[in-house]
Amino acid sequence: MQRTLILLKPDSVQRRLMGRIISRFEDKGLSFVGMKLMQVTPELAKQHYAEHVEKAWYPTLESFITGGPIVAAVLEGLEAITVVRDMLGATSGLKAAPGTIRGDFSSSRQMNLVHGSDGPEAAEREIALYFTPEELVDHTPTIATWMRAADE
Ligand code: CDP
Ligand code: MG
Repeated sequence: MQRTLILLKPDSVQRRLMGRIISRFEDKGLSFVGMKLMQVTPELAKQHYAEHVEKAWYPTLESFITGGPIVAAVLEGLEAITVVRDMLGATSGLKAAPGTIRGDFSSSRQMNLVHGSDGPEAAEREIALYFTPEELVDHTPTIATWMRAADE
């Protein structure tokens, strides 16, 4: 089992797409083990996007991500990091394939609706940025035996 961080960015909340986006992750069989509505501060934005802080476009990214509430969540599932990234699609909604969340709902390079951790180290770091251990709820879905074979 693997855990990954997702953020429903402010455009998801403002465009009333939260429910539809959450449904896609539920439909796939991923489990929500943590979830909250919150406001990203400039300080948190700089920590989250540390690899991008020096880029020319970072100031507009910070304005966007701090510009309204977001939903942060931790998803759990087999290969959850790659599964979620594939569900998001390419960074730009203009390039993302139809069928992906960004491909279906976004026409922007910046306002691409959802963040997903891009690897195991990023997932661990980002989950710790947004959640305390007590905020994550360990549980085994009762439907698990109908989601995959016992040896998967
Ligand atoms: O989110 P992802 O890992 O696909 O893309 P990234 O290259 O790590 O960039 C992080 C975020 O910065 C993107 O999801 C966009 O919201 C934003 N971005 C931007 O505002 N302008 C760019 N030229 C590239 C990315
Ligand atoms: Mg990235």
